[in-house]
Amino acid sequence: MGLSRKIASAHYMTEQQSIFACPVCGEKMKITDQCVVTCENHHTFDIAKQGYVNFMTHPTTSMYGKDLFEARKQIIESGLYAQLHHTVVELLQSFGRDMTVLDTGCGEGSHLAKVKQQFEKTMDQKMVAVGIDIAKEGVVAASRNYEGMIWCVGDLAKCPFQKSSFDAILNILSPANYTEFKRLLKPNGWVVKVVPQSGYLYQLRELFFADSDKESYSNAHTVERFKENFSDVTIKRITQKVVIPQNLVPMLMHMTPMGWHQTTDIDQTKVKEITIDLDILVGKLS
Ligand SMILES: C[S@@+](CC[C@H](N)C(=O)[O-])C[C@H]1O[C@@H](n2cnc3c(N)ncnc32)[C@H](O)[C@@H]1O
Ligand SMILES: [Zn+2]
Repeated sequence: MGLSRKIASAHYMTEQQSIFACPVCGEKMKITDQCVVTCENHHTFDIAKQGYVNFMTHPTTSMYGKDLFEARKQIIESGLYAQLHHTVVELLQSFGRDMTVLDTGCGEGSHLAKVKQQFEKTMDQKMVAVGIDIAKEGVVAASRNYEGMIWCVGDLAKCPFQKSSFDAILNILSPANYTEFKRLLKPNGWVVKVVPQSGYLYQLRELFFADSDKESYSNAHTVERFKENFSDVTIKRITQKVVIPQNLVPMLMHMTPMGWHQTTDIDQTKVKEITIDLDILVGKLS
């Protein structure tokens, strides 16, 4: 890696310089020859050797660590979310032109990398892809693994970007901040939020919560809030059952919500198939 990744990243970010806003004072930012992102008031943020920028203005601890993000990468690469990627790409391609896309809560970046790659493969359209996550370990992994994209450590509730910078905001299985999303979207922009449906990973839920009401899940409240905030809302459900290799089952458990880890004597060999059941909510600025 070394210097070249950092410099390549600085070059790429310079081309997109106008999207950045200082997380301290809100002013415009520029990227210097020294690979520093700086505003007119001299608030500075270094581009790391892996190519990402840490825009956090105060330290945070995340419950997501390096192992979890490595697990998540392997799961996503196994093809478990292939249908999700396909559907999101088709949707974005219907936009009909080049896009600047922000993935909020991008984790280790595999979803965004796949979406960009597939988006650019089949059509004559380019995507500027920007990922932000509060977990530094995730963003470090993203920038190590995926070049030609912009990776930021930051809080999605206070994004270091100018208003009206993005054609689409992705928000996949992550918390949202609709006030911030509306600020960041261009006038004709779209929000694409992915939330679990009732059958999501149900084989794991059955193992953990046999005979308990936690076994079922409803996203009704989330859908309701989304509809209050955006217009022309459409919902597309994707359901896919995948035979999962035994060695990925512990990793899947690893990336599920924390409460699911409490039981120790789980027979993982029982899990042979996994169901992906998701709603893709798409909305526009109202
Ligand atoms: C369940 S993970 C999903 C990650 C990724 N989208 C995926 O599907 O693999 C939720 C992510 O949201 C991130 N996150 C939580 N709160 C955040 C915040 N305030 N700002 C940015 N990211 C946040 C976490 O660090 C974590 O990476
Ligand atoms: Zn500043």
